[in-house]
Amino acid sequence: MSAGRYEATERLRGLDPETPPLERGILPHRLDAFEDYVALPERMRGNYPSGFSEEEFRNYMGGMAAIDDATVRAIVTAAEHAHPRPDRLLNVGGGPGAFAAEFDRRGADVTLVDRESVLDFLEDHHREQGLNVVEGDARESLPTGYDVVFGARMTVSLTLDGIREYFGNAYEALDPGGTFVGAEWVRGRSEVAERFGLHMVAISEAGNTYTEAEYRSALADNGFVDIEITDVPDTRFQVVVGHVPDSA
Ligand SMILES: C[S@@+](CC[C@H](N)C(=O)[O-])C[C@H]1O[C@@H](n2cnc3c(N)ncnc32)[C@H](O)[C@@H]1O
Repeated sequence: MSAGRYEATERLRGLDPETPPLERGILPHRLDAFEDYVALPERMRGNYPSGFSEEEFRNYMGGMAAIDDATVRAIVTAAEHAHPRPDRLLNVGGGPGAFAAEFDRRGADVTLVDRESVLDFLEDHHREQGLNVVEGDARESLPTGYDVVFGARMTVSLTLDGIREYFGNAYEALDPGGTFVGAEWVRGRSEVAERFGLHMVAISEAGNTYTEAEYRSALADNGFVDIEITDVPDTRFQVVVGHVPDSA
């Protein structure tokens, strides 16, 4: 309140339909999710609506783009500890591209993969950032020939079977000696993982969060070795890391 008048804060600008989706912040997506929480009993009976409405999709894009720079930098640094100075990096489920842009800034040749609907919506944004993008579904196949396959907040929208398919395709996408790095909220390790699992159950038919043991076995069963799960300093994330043997 100023001079006896109420004024909307910057965060409330996200609720103005005139605000461009990528500038809306997380609040509109949170409010959409709240409606999904209210509908949770109905959804637990299997009655999910089919996908997002147009406005919910735009708000979801805004929510994804709202990740803060310090978190992105901390996760990219953790990925570089797992595999220093990658030449070619595939960013799976890259969305608006905050991670892809940071890897690019640090010298990697980055390709971002995402679904067609997301790439169509973000076409101008990706072009402005100079990002190289490819349409694809990580459960079906991924482009090949990379030193690192990186995905952030990717597995939350997949079932455990979907994660296994994704990790199998990540293994095929990597050259010998390559490294998979996933930045996720691991159950039993991240304070937000259980709550986020419930969030995903409310907003989607497939999503959830997963335990260290589930990630380890999905990586090992696909041939990855030297698997490690470590906390990313000053964030609520863990990185889930697996390597392709040098002679694979
Ligand atoms: C929560 S967003 C995270 C975006 C970005 N990685 C970040 O952390 O800011 C998840 C992204 O993964 C993409 N995605 C989910 N499942 C996918 C799949 N099977 N294949 C490709 N992309 C997928 C979604 O379209 C979305 O852009």
